[in-house]
Amino acid sequence: MIVKTINEMRECVKLERAKGRRIGFVPTMGFLHDGHAALLKQAWRENDVVILSIFVNPTQFGPNEDYKIYPRDLERDALIAKENSVDYIFTPSVEEMYGTETSFVSVVVQDRVDMLCGKSRPDHFDGVATIVTKLLNVVQPDRAYFGTKDAQQLAIVRELVRSFNFATEVVAVEMVRESDRLALSSRNTYLSEEQRSDATSLYKTLNHIRYLLHKDITLIDAIVEGEQYFREISSFSELEYLEAYSYPDLLPITKNTKQIIIAIAAKFDKIRLIDNIVVDM
Ligand code: PAJ
Repeated sequence: MIVKTINEMRECVKLERAKGRRIGFVPTMGFLHDGHAALLKQAWRENDVVILSIFVNPTQFGPNEDYKIYPRDLERDALIAKENSVDYIFTPSVEEMYGTETSFVSVVVQDRVDMLCGKSRPDHFDGVATIVTKLLNVVQPDRAYFGTKDAQQLAIVRELVRSFNFATEVVAVEMVRESDRLALSSRNTYLSEEQRSDATSLYKTLNHIRYLLHKDITLIDAIVEGEQYFREISSFSELEYLEAYSYPDLLPITKNTKQIIIAIAAKFDKIRLIDNIVVDM
């Protein structure tokens, strides 16, 4: 069932709650792929009702980013949703979510924003935190599902739920990849054939660093060598960052850190792609 208004969504949630059903929620911006499907499948296994939101959120895009051209196809998404037993697709308009006033109260993220994607996308996580707050407030799910592909987003959403005392459990779902290990992303559809094959350099670089670490090369040296390796194997892209933090909290690495995340972002012309791996220390 497709739901377009907040009031209708709240009514549906109320009815499901009255029947004692547990609600799993998967927020997305649509143009669904198997990565989104993995979230939906896990939500289906762990809850009685699955609500999928599809909303291309304007406040998380920068002025020169791809908000206007972000791929949208509700018909196709509805089919994928059906295949994955989604009960409700919540797909509000921008006016429905944000109203028509020019000013509104928004969420400002304090931590973990001057690193990784936050450096080149300064207001992005405020936009994500604001929309996730609004969606959680409307849907009030028992569990909400987020992919580890967006590791910084996941860490910030966990902090958001803690900070605002949402009664929702945040569930992390493993990243889904293509057979050549490229991380699935709605933005992969923008890639030309050449860029598509070049984009495998992201995972190859992460894997190369993992190999260097297994050979007992220090993390700093491995990252430096990884940067060089990326530039050698990727002809059409610009490396934006290659960084390592503790996992899952994304704090600076100390000698007590047990697991680290190595994260990479690069631009293939205007198309920005990210990837990460987690390595035991
Ligand atoms: P979107 O990019 O559509 O992603 C929706 C969810 O799918 C996110 O939790 C993301 O981490 C997950 N996801 C994307 N690619 C994945 C992959 N290859 N494997 C597993 N999970 C994957 O992330 C957003 O939308 C938005 O920022 C949102 C949270 C909806 C707020 O607007």
